[in-house]
Amino acid sequence: MTGPPHDDGSGTGVRVARVREQDWERVRALRLAMLADTPLAFTETIEQTRRFDEREWRRRARRGSAGTSIATYAAVGPGGDWLGTMGGVLERPGRALLVSVFVVPERRGGPVADLLLRTVLRWARDEAGADRIRLLVHEANPRAAAFYARHGFTATGRTEPYPLDPAAREIEMDRALGLGDPDAAAPTGLVGDTSAQYG
Ligand SMILES: CC(C)(COP(=O)(O)OP(=O)(O)OC[C@H]1O[C@@H](n2cnc3c(N)ncnc32)[C@H](O)[C@@H]1OP(=O)(O)O)[C@@H](O)C(=O)NCCC(=O)NCCS
Repeated sequence: MTGPPHDDGSGTGVRVARVREQDWERVRALRLAMLADTPLAFTETIEQTRRFDEREWRRRARRGSAGTSIATYAAVGPGGDWLGTMGGVLERPGRALLVSVFVVPERRGGPVADLLLRTVLRWARDEAGADRIRLLVHEANPRAAAFYARHGFTATGRTEPYPLDPAAREIEMDRALGLGDPDAAAPTGLVGDTSAQYG
């Protein structure tokens, strides 16, 4: 992505930007906050993650904008603060996976999660060429499941053991990514890079 991020037009001042290598310290801070806030939503522990060195954080940040099969986005507030993140992975031709879903607690229930999801859906359809996107949600995470349901995801009937506690299950949900899909039609100019906030 090139060019500065733009306001989404909703008057919130929240922008969505693709994550780049130079964002690695913010990626680290947000990741540690995510794992502390909602451990069951993710498949690595905060203890594991605290051991990563700068090289690993740079690698993670870099892959957010490295190619067409993976993308990570951050929601950036008017002051440059990061309010949340979501990412997409093209698992195989035509099939995308939604990952790393998080909004800071004080910005939940507002437009931030919607903006991030619409951006990933648009990426999956228009840049990655997917016609379906799936996700896995922990069975004890009804808020996330309700958010996905509102955006057209339905349970496929498939479940998997949760990797950090095989006694628990993750539920698979998916949805189509059709042409003219309003959820994947983010406003023009929504997505930029993060440079305008902090160089
Ligand atoms: C998942 C997440 C990004 C969704 O963003 P959000 O701003 O909270 O989403 P919204 O408020 O728009 O939607 C949440 C829905 O859950 C509902 N909800 C809230 N608390 C709930 C609960 N305890 N049980 C069931 N539903 C609940 C809300 O009413 C809303 O439903 P509605 O749209 O039908 O009214 C955010 O909650 C988050 O970051 N959670 C922690 C990390 C996480 O769980 N990630 C998902 C990993 S799969």
